Amino acid sequence: MSGPLRYILVGTGGWGAQWCRTFLPPLKDSGRAIPVAAVDVNGEKLRYAQEYLGLSPQHCFTDFIDAVHKRRADFAIIVVPPQFHERYVDMALTFDLHILCEHPLALDMETCLRIYRKVRNSSRKMGIVASHRFDPDKQALAELVRSRRYGRVNYVVCRFTENCRAFGTWGKYRHEMQDPLLIEAAVHHFDVFRAICECNARTVHAASWNPPWGRFGGDSTALVTIEMDSGAYCLYEGAKANASTLNGWGNEYFRVECEHGTLELDRRRLRVFNGGAMEEPRVELVPLPEQPAWGAVRVAEMFCDWLAGGEKPPITLRDAMRTTSMVFAAVQSSRTGREIDVHQFLDQWVDATSSTRRADADQRPEV
Ligand SMILES: NC(=O)c1ccc[n+]([C@@H]2O[C@H](COP(=O)([O-])OP(=O)(O)OC[C@H]3O[C@@H](n4cnc5c(N)ncnc54)[C@H](O)[C@@H]3O)[C@@H](O)[C@H]2O)c1
Repeated sequence: MSGPLRYILVGTGGWGAQWCRTFLPPLKDSGRAIPVAAVDVNGEKLRYAQEYLGLSPQHCFTDFIDAVHKRRADFAIIVVPPQFHERYVDMALTFDLHILCEHPLALDMETCLRIYRKVRNSSRKMGIVASHRFDPDKQALAELVRSRRYGRVNYVVCRFTENCRAFGTWGKYRHEMQDPLLIEAAVHHFDVFRAICECNARTVHAASWNPPWGRFGGDSTALVTIEMDSGAYCLYEGAKANASTLNGWGNEYFRVECEHGTLELDRRRLRVFNGGAMEEPRVELVPLPEQPAWGAVRVAEMFCDWLAGGEKPPITLRDAMRTTSMVFAAVQSSRTGREIDVHQFLDQWVDATSSTRRADADQRPEV
C-alpha cells in the first residue's frame, strides 16, 4: 500500500471530539493515515471534524452510506455509543473497510460474538481501542512485572472510584443502560489486569449494585474477584457514585503484590515498597517511560501499521473477546451470585449462538 491510509471517522461529538482534537492529528503527521470523511447523526457535532481534522463541510455527513459512496476509504473508526457499533461494523464490512472500534464492543455477549463472527468471516481486519492498557503508567507497571525483578505475581488490586452520581455526568447513555460500571469501565481495567498478569481470567465472582444516591438505571458500583490462569488473583473496586473521586479515569490505583516487592501505581505515580515485619518500608520511585505516543494514539498507530503490512498488534478483535468474556461473565456472576468459569462461559456462548458446531469449533476466540 503506498501513501497514507484513508479513514472515515464515525462519531465526532463526545469522545469523538477528543479523537478529532488529540488522537487523529498525529496519524497525519506521521504519514500513516488521513481523514477523508466524518459522520455523525448530529450535524452540529461535525464541526469538530472541520475544526481539528480540516475536513470541508462537503466531506462531513450525517449518513454513513452517503459518506462511503462519495469518499473512497480504507478503514472506518467507530466512536459512537456501543449499541450502534454492530450496525456500523455491518456497513463497514459491506463496503470492504477495515475497522477500528472503541471498547466496549457491544452491550451483550451475543452481539459481541456476532460481530466477531462477521469480521472473522470477512477479509477485513478489526482492531479495538484498548487505550487504557497503553497508558504510560500501566505500561510501566506491566513492564516492571514482566522484568521478573520482583518475582512472581501473588495478587493485583485495582481501585477506580469517581463521583459521577448526578445524571449525565458520565454521558447520558451510561446513566440509562444496564451495568454501566462493568461494561463501560471495568472493560478497560480488566484489560489492564490481563496485561499485568500476561494471561486470561479463569474465574470471576462479582457483586454489583447502584446505591440509592446514584442517578443510574443500571449498576454503577462493583466489587469483583478474579482468578487468572496463572493462579494470581485480581481484586477490582469500581464505583461511579461515590462521594468523591479518588482514582478516576487515567488516575487509577493498581497494586501488584509480587514475591519480592509491592508495586504501587497511584494517580500516575509508580513506586516499589520493600521491608521486613517491623520496618518502615523502603520506597523507590520508578520514573515513567517516555515515548511519543500513548493510549488511543498508540492504538491507532499500531492499527495503521498492521493494515500497512506490519505485525499483528495486541489490540485485535480476537484479543478483545477475552476481556469481553470477563466483563459479561462478571455481569452473569452479579446476577446469579455464583462464581463463573470464564473459559466455560465463552465456550457456552460460542455453542449456544452457533448454527453449526463444527464450523464454530474453528471460531473460538483463542488468544
Ligand atoms: N477509551 C476510552 O477511554 C473511552 C472514553 C469515552 C468513550 N469511549 C467509547 O467511545 C464511544 C462513544 O462514546 P461517547 O461518550 O463519545 O458517546 P456520545 O453519546 O457522547 O456520542 C458520541 C457521538 O456519536 C454520535 N452518535 C450517536 N449515535 C450515532 C449513530 N447511530 N450514528 C452516528 N453518530 C452517532 C453522537 O451524536 C455524538 O456526537 C463508546 O463506545 C464509548 O464506550 C471510550
